[in-house]
Amino acid sequence: METRRILVIGAKGMLGSDLIKVLYSTFRTDKHSEWEVLEWDIDDIDIREEKTTVTKIESFHPEILINVAGYTDVDGCESNEKEAFAVNAEGMKHVALGAVKCRAKVVYISTDYIFDGKKKEPYLEDDPPNPLNVYGRSKWKGEQYARELVEDVLIIRTQWLYGRYGKNFVTSILGQAREKKVLSIVNDQIGSPTYSVDLSKVISVLLKYDARGVFHVANNDLCTWYTFGQAILKLSGMERVKIIPISSKELGRPAVRPPYSVLNCQKLRQVTGMMLRPWADALKDFLLSVR
Ligand SMILES: NC(=O)c1ccc[n+]([C@@H]2O[C@H](COP(=O)([O-])OP(=O)(O)OC[C@H]3O[C@@H](n4cnc5c(N)ncnc54)[C@H](OP(=O)(O)O)[C@@H]3O)[C@@H](O)[C@H]2O)c1
Repeated sequence: METRRILVIGAKGMLGSDLIKVLYSTFRTDKHSEWEVLEWDIDDIDIREEKTTVTKIESFHPEILINVAGYTDVDGCESNEKEAFAVNAEGMKHVALGAVKCRAKVVYISTDYIFDGKKKEPYLEDDPPNPLNVYGRSKWKGEQYARELVEDVLIIRTQWLYGRYGKNFVTSILGQAREKKVLSIVNDQIGSPTYSVDLSKVISVLLKYDARGVFHVANNDLCTWYTFGQAILKLSGMERVKIIPISSKELGRPAVRPPYSVLNCQKLRQVTGMMLRPWADALKDFLLSVR
């Protein structure tokens, strides 16, 4: 039996860590499976370097290459544009060039931050992008490279990710709530918090369907960071901590965020029959898992 390989780049990150587990449970259901799952992170491959990235990918000859690596510090990207583009855009280009050598399918994880948030209803896959910040622009460029260079490409745009294995809004709120009596949270950005385990399952399903093109994937229902924060505290029994709603302007973060970036996930439903559960249900599961 010939070995077939799925290579995940960025495997030690928040999404990568959950994705690896899901891929093992779906593609390597028993030890006789023809599939091998390879887990690479920056210690194994630095996607900023073209030559080594292409050569290394080529030597392992994956059939599917999932790029979940990224420079994901949205505010950090503002003061470090060069690095943001080196990882999120040029890095994707180098991965794509490696994939072309082995005729591999490429999966790239992109973001709602490619949109400007002026639309008043959920964004469709073919809505025109207009990123407001460096991170969004670098991810949009990464999408373009993936599309231009690779024939079989799957781009998954997601948003407001949280999970067990990385810094994120949920763990940050829980940490702050242990130390403070009052928190200030922005109430003028609307989106859908997405659990990395749920997203990982969708990635696996889309691979089984051999899906191509762009898909929006997020947990169902919408909220602001403020209402998300309220739910986190309530479900964690920390309602004694007061939250004050503030504006993005008051918070004064370096990167401008879209005021509304809800993703329309109907295409996912049409192709796979799947719709992700409401974010509040996913959040409950996540909080139970970290208790
Ligand atoms: N988090 C979100 O809310 C969100 C929303 C939409 C889309 N996304 C996208 O989803 C993907 C996964 O996000 P995440 O939150 O799981 O990110 P993450 O936790 O920051 O993980 C990214 C991983 O990539 C690695 N990496 C960084 N630079 C690299 C390089 N030059 N070569 C190889 N590996 C490198 C990182 O290693 P180090 O930790 O050592 O740097 C880390 O292990 C990213 O592409 C991100 O843009 C995220």
